[in-house]
Amino acid sequence: MIPGLAGGPAPVLVLGATGAVGRGLLERLSKAGVPIIAVSRRVPDAELPNVMWMQHDLAREPLKVETHVLLSAGPLSLARRQLERLPAVRRVIALGSASVRFKQDSPDPDERAMMRELADAELRLGEWAERRAADVTLLRPTLIYGGRHDRNISVIAEAARTKRRLPIAGRGLRQPVHADDLARLMTTLVARQGRGFEVFDLGGGETLPYPDFVRRIASAAGADPSIVQVPAPLLTTGLRVAHLFGRMTTVTPAMIRRQRMDLAVDDTPAREQLGWNPRPFRPSFSPD
Ligand SMILES: NC(=O)c1ccc[n+]([C@@H]2O[C@H](COP(=O)([O-])OP(=O)(O)OC[C@H]3O[C@@H](n4cnc5c(N)ncnc54)[C@H](OP(=O)(O)O)[C@@H]3O)[C@@H](O)[C@H]2O)c1
Repeated sequence: MIPGLAGGPAPVLVLGATGAVGRGLLERLSKAGVPIIAVSRRVPDAELPNVMWMQHDLAREPLKVETHVLLSAGPLSLARRQLERLPAVRRVIALGSASVRFKQDSPDPDERAMMRELADAELRLGEWAERRAADVTLLRPTLIYGGRHDRNISVIAEAARTKRRLPIAGRGLRQPVHADDLARLMTTLVARQGRGFEVFDLGGGETLPYPDFVRRIASAAGADPSIVQVPAPLLTTGLRVAHLFGRMTTVTPAMIRRQRMDLAVDDTPAREQLGWNPRPFRPSFSPD
């Protein structure tokens, strides 16, 4: 049960409900008997008790609904805009991203623009919380994995399955966070009130150098390729050639550059204040 929520009059609004974290949120809240409005642009593919789906594109316009609690597991800028239409909301738990720390100086102009948008959404969310005297917990995880439609680590798993040698270009640290650990934390945080605007960075239960991160994924995918360190310029050239043939289009030169960077955060405040206790990195590719 979620104190102060189950059986409450107005439903909880869940944005990003079809993502890996969003699905975990729906399952947990639904089991706890919490009425939910779940938003997606698509026709929902899962029916759960207590969940009412709304098919809606939030980028076109915010929704008109009655709710006191907003949980956002989708783009933060959409949640921030939606809040302007929710006069009764006093509690918000939203996912941001630790990327705001790592990608602001990316060589990729699209990534820099996304980070500006994210930083702006964070700032405005803080202003909104102050103006409305609302309690907002902003969670900034590092890389998220897990769930049926995982794109982050499944790209590496696919490469590991199909290649005998996997070239990489760095030993930067990674702290992958399981989507369901985030869903669990967000659910428990609904009852945390009276703290104003709070921001927490979140890492996973293990910090791994990039080669170990790749090896762990390969092993979970049942593959054992040789992992070979290659200078980043050489790997980038190879990638550009692959792009010419329409291959590896989801991998960018900026991603290769980041293989050398530590994408890790200090999540001690979240561990101490929120009870954040994420699992170690044990990816699984069996259906959830
Ligand atoms: N992926 C990562 O490794 C990572 C790492 C750190 C933080 N985060 C944060 O985690 C959250 C989720 O990230 P994500 O990677 O799953 O991708 P995302 O694109 O930020 O979110 C996907 C979810 O948002 C919904 N959504 C997107 N645009 C929408 C729109 N215009 N109207 C209504 N719903 C919309 C999608 O629903 P439909 O497609 O069903 O409409 C889906 O449920 C974000 O806040 C992101 O910053 C992600």
